[in-house]
Amino acid sequence: FAARQTTSAVFGAVQRRAFSASAANATKVAVLGAAGGIGQPLSLLLKLNPRVSELSLYDIKGAPGVAADISHINTKSTVKGYEPSSPGAIKECLTGAEIVLIPAGVPRKPGMTRDDLFNTNASIVRDLAKAAADACPNAAILIIANPVNSTVPITAEVFKSKGVYNPKKLFGVTTLDVVRASRFISQLKSTDPATENITVIGGHSGATIVPLLSQAGVNLEGAERDEYIKRVQFGGDEVVQAKGGAGSATLSMAMAGARFAESLLKAAQGQAGVIEPTYVDSPLYKDQGVTYFASNVELGPNGVEKIHPVGTLNAHEQSLLEVCLKDLKGNIEKGEKWAQANP
Ligand code: NAI
Repeated sequence: FAARQTTSAVFGAVQRRAFSASAANATKVAVLGAAGGIGQPLSLLLKLNPRVSELSLYDIKGAPGVAADISHINTKSTVKGYEPSSPGAIKECLTGAEIVLIPAGVPRKPGMTRDDLFNTNASIVRDLAKAAADACPNAAILIIANPVNSTVPITAEVFKSKGVYNPKKLFGVTTLDVVRASRFISQLKSTDPATENITVIGGHSGATIVPLLSQAGVNLEGAERDEYIKRVQFGGDEVVQAKGGAGSATLSMAMAGARFAESLLKAAQGQAGVIEPTYVDSPLYKDQGVTYFASNVELGPNGVEKIHPVGTLNAHEQSLLEVCLKDLKGNIEKGEKWAQANP
């Protein structure tokens, strides 16, 4: 299922443009950090999505330029760019938004973990979350800025402090892990990734990323299995190293973010059975102190419709999950404590 959506999100958006002059519902989507490496191609893909009627782009610098450029693309949606120098910009950008994607923040350089970004990105996400909680408290908030394992709990704390927290509307975007898991297995098996649907559970960093091969009927053993899992867990590092200090995954992430937004829009506009793995406020491992967890989530008009349990794991996957839960607990507590100490 996940792999099927890969095609539909990227190419289907362009195709649908030809058939559908207007989307079923008018939907305003905001991107915060829209002039960045992820923000620009993500905004481009959203402009190609006929379910989006209004695209609202914010960045501390450069968003009006990006908006002017994208606005010439001949799809129906309107585009407006905002930067902080104009008073009330972020409020206007966010008011009426149904979906807010947040790729604002610094990316990794070679040798860095996602947690190394915490000190810079925590306050960026907190401030943008405050603006969203004030201007569009009912919007679906999609956190892309790393470390996602901690920036999602930070956002939740901000919304709680303002009395508007809705756990059904807050998502850590882990779609890129799912995209990689599907692509990498298709490379190993020489198959079409559209037919490879690998659920990825846990979180979004290193050992917290747990691909479940057994549920897809894939049986890798020994070094081949370990290399595959390491590649899914540390696929981001391949890109960081190849870019040599100029950033992390931006284009594949834009595709993944656009796919997740498309899934939410489809569900919001009435399509049933839309399922994506995503990092949400989850009951699955709460008894172990892990309050946020990524698993397959069915999306609906109100956001999270149903959180699926992880299902049957083999012994190796179970051992990966145990490491994941330990790391995640620390990442979540770090985010929550920071947010409470730095309101
Ligand atoms: P970038 O540096 O190219 O772009 C970030 C943008 O955010 C810049 O345009 C910057 O001006 C803007 N920005 C910074 N502070 C801001 C603020 N307070 N308000 C509004 N905009 C602000 O970085 P890139 O490559 O786009 O990555 C962004 C984030 O996404 C990073 O934290 C990165 O680690 C994360 N990421 C997440 C992935 C995921 O799977 N969830 C995958 C890849 C990256």
